[in-house]
Amino acid sequence: MSKIKYQTLTGMHDVLVEEQVYFKRVQKVVESVANSYTFDKIETPILEFAEIFQKAVGDDTDIVGKEMYTFRTKGGDMVCLRPEGTAPVMRSYLEHGMHNMPQPVKLWYIGPFFRYERPQAGRFRQFHQFGFEAIGEANPSIDSQIIQMSYDVLKELGFKNLTIEVNSIGDSECRPYFKKILTSYFKSRRSSLCGDCQRRLKENPLRILDCKEEKCQRVKAGAPQIIDHLCEKCHAHFKEVLEFLDELELPYTLNPYLVRGLDYYTKTVFEIVETSEDGKSLGSLAGGGRYDNLSKVLGGRTVAGCGSAAGIERIISLMKTREMKTGKPVEEPKIFLAQLGQLAKRKSMKLFEEFRAAKIPVAESFSKDSLKTQLRTANKQNIKWVLIFGQKEALEDFITLRDMDTGVQKEIKLDKVVEEMKERIIKNKSL
Ligand code: HAM
Repeated sequence: MSKIKYQTLTGMHDVLVEEQVYFKRVQKVVESVANSYTFDKIETPILEFAEIFQKAVGDDTDIVGKEMYTFRTKGGDMVCLRPEGTAPVMRSYLEHGMHNMPQPVKLWYIGPFFRYERPQAGRFRQFHQFGFEAIGEANPSIDSQIIQMSYDVLKELGFKNLTIEVNSIGDSECRPYFKKILTSYFKSRRSSLCGDCQRRLKENPLRILDCKEEKCQRVKAGAPQIIDHLCEKCHAHFKEVLEFLDELELPYTLNPYLVRGLDYYTKTVFEIVETSEDGKSLGSLAGGGRYDNLSKVLGGRTVAGCGSAAGIERIISLMKTREMKTGKPVEEPKIFLAQLGQLAKRKSMKLFEEFRAAKIPVAESFSKDSLKTQLRTANKQNIKWVLIFGQKEALEDFITLRDMDTGVQKEIKLDKVVEEMKERIIKNKSL
């Protein structure tokens, strides 16, 4: 056979017909999870000003320093193929004045991204990500919601051995102090670090915690942990995130050395890893965290944010080897879950998951605190049933059901609610 003249570039690949079914499946599951948490879709251009990533992700990160496809256009602009989605979404939020919309603005995206990486298993130069970003909300419930959503997608696709690694990397108040402590620890072990890390020691010692070199991993094992040096605010925030995760019964572990390779993170960071039957990590499928300073870095005022993204090729490659199904997607929400107060919020997140497990699509508004706003949202979404979870309900383990068509309300015991709603929806039974 004669040799073919043209091939795809190294690290790039065609998505062939037989792969489309996997891409479609991932997209449908992502869309259904996004819909049930009322995230709206956004698309941003593939080309952006390179400076956006230099500022947001950081000049001395691998992504910007080594892996960006950067070039000058005929008009003289320095642009790049987007290596990630968070900075462009924040750029769009600021450019279009989305702070004037009801907060948080909850967005999701899916599309190609580009990093000039050394090609190896699970690493491509053009790959696809889906991501969720919630901008304009500082409450830790959003962190746990983002984690839950990323986890839900993977679970629904059929992954069974997922672990969520979480950490907090503090903020501009506590991190500089921790960096000093870390620098002095690594300085005294400088000769045991790889060349890159010796350089990182000057620029950003946190990056050393992210190094995959074995010799650096050994030094890292005894390094001080940021979790012991968080300021009061970051500590309280992290504690609440973990409480939410506990309530949601998500399988998380604390990884005190998880820092993530992007500069914009503050406070919560996380990765979701799938492990093989014998407990070996099969790589990070999704990652994300909070980025409360990103907006300022990009020239806006302070706006809190939190998000995550997952690599579709990695997901598909595992789906194929595990022969996971590419089955059918989900429908519109029929119930709206409204909540009032911290305890009710926590409990309603759990209830939300019970509905999802029972395959009953439920809409919610966990970050909103006023009942009026929540009822209005339910109305806008044309949802007949609203379950109201207030302080009294949370303490006494019942919930109030409101029929939005008739305005009639009734109380239901918490352990009967999923069952009763299932029946009402099937039989279309009004109050
Ligand atoms: P990231 O960890 O750089 O985070 O990428 C997220 C996911 O994209 C990774 O967990 C991995 O599955 C996939 N991925 C990354 N690089 C490659 C590659 N070269 N080939 C194939 N898959 C890859 C971010 O991109 C952040 N924007 C996530 C985020 C959203 N943080 C807050 N909001």
